[in-house]
Amino acid sequence: MTTILVTGGAGYIGSHAVLALQRRGYEVIVLDNLVYGHRDIAEKVLKVELVVGDISDRSLLDDLFATRNIAAVMHFSAYAYVGESVSDPAKYYRNNVVGTLTLLEAMAAASVQKFVFSSTCATYGMPETIPIPENHPQNPINPYGATKLMVEQILKDFEAAYGLKSVSFRYFNAAGADPTGLIGEDHHPETHLIPLILLAALGKRDSISIFGTDYPTRDGTCIRDYIHVTDIAQAHVLGLEYLLQGGETEIFNLGNGNGFSVREMIATAQAVTGREIPVALGDRRPGDPPSLVGSSEKARKSLGWHPQYSDLSQIVSHAWQWHQQRHE
Ligand code: UFG
Repeated sequence: MTTILVTGGAGYIGSHAVLALQRRGYEVIVLDNLVYGHRDIAEKVLKVELVVGDISDRSLLDDLFATRNIAAVMHFSAYAYVGESVSDPAKYYRNNVVGTLTLLEAMAAASVQKFVFSSTCATYGMPETIPIPENHPQNPINPYGATKLMVEQILKDFEAAYGLKSVSFRYFNAAGADPTGLIGEDHHPETHLIPLILLAALGKRDSISIFGTDYPTRDGTCIRDYIHVTDIAQAHVLGLEYLLQGGETEIFNLGNGNGFSVREMIATAQAVTGREIPVALGDRRPGDPPSLVGSSEKARKSLGWHPQYSDLSQIVSHAWQWHQQRHE
């Protein structure tokens, strides 16, 4: 059985990737420091081997690579709060860049040469064209996006120096939950739109605040490209298998290519949940581009990736199923 190390495998996107790998028959080891990851999801739900530790712990990594026959690494562990990255950049550079560098150095030392990286559309910054292609200029407007771009650069240099092959996925807005209801999104604190809307639907929050109603968009609210987390996980398996079959280093966007506004998202959630969702109109959140929609033609053509859950109602209803069960 091929063994894959998944860092951050107890977190939102990482846990869905673990599930996709397990369903494909891989042996998975999760490395997670549990700062944001969930022990119960890893141990009780996924029943995956969990190593509690940090990507910056070089001796732990050396030990793992020396004792386990790890064929590839999928790297999800990162801090991902855009606002916090502005107020506490050191935390982001230390974890997302220095931590990843330690992981990559340990891989190079152990000759583990395949790496699937969780990058982001935040590396593009303010879009000049919509939908955004992979060759769009990268000018991140916050430290979070900058850290992910730095890792993309490190990966280029590691390939040249050590032959490490990687697939980097720049996701747009990860959303939804595993269709069976097994796992889903559970951030503490929660800052993302869909879970906050659903927590308001559940009465766990008073209302959902719309951050800005005066954007140059069709209804004045921000537009985003929401992509089902299970489709993202599936792309990771395809990216991994592409590398295991000898594929060259590549970068792919992962999005649906359709943009939905905050108001459209709230209306969809009202329809899916059948509940009244109180709305408050707020100011713009600093650093939010008006519209972010990606072109994922490259992943479709090169990897044969076909998102299965691109319907927005379906994305929200999977998230709703999970939230009801987790919080009600
Ligand atoms: N929004 C609200 N109210 C809220 C929360 C969000 O109106 O209470 C709006 C935001 O302004 C934004 C949209 O809903 O327009 C989506 O916001 P999220 O916080 O859910 O997601 P972001 O688009 O800000 O962030 C996502 C990922 C980041 C990634 C970023 C790239 O979560 O990791 O996309 O821009 F960096």
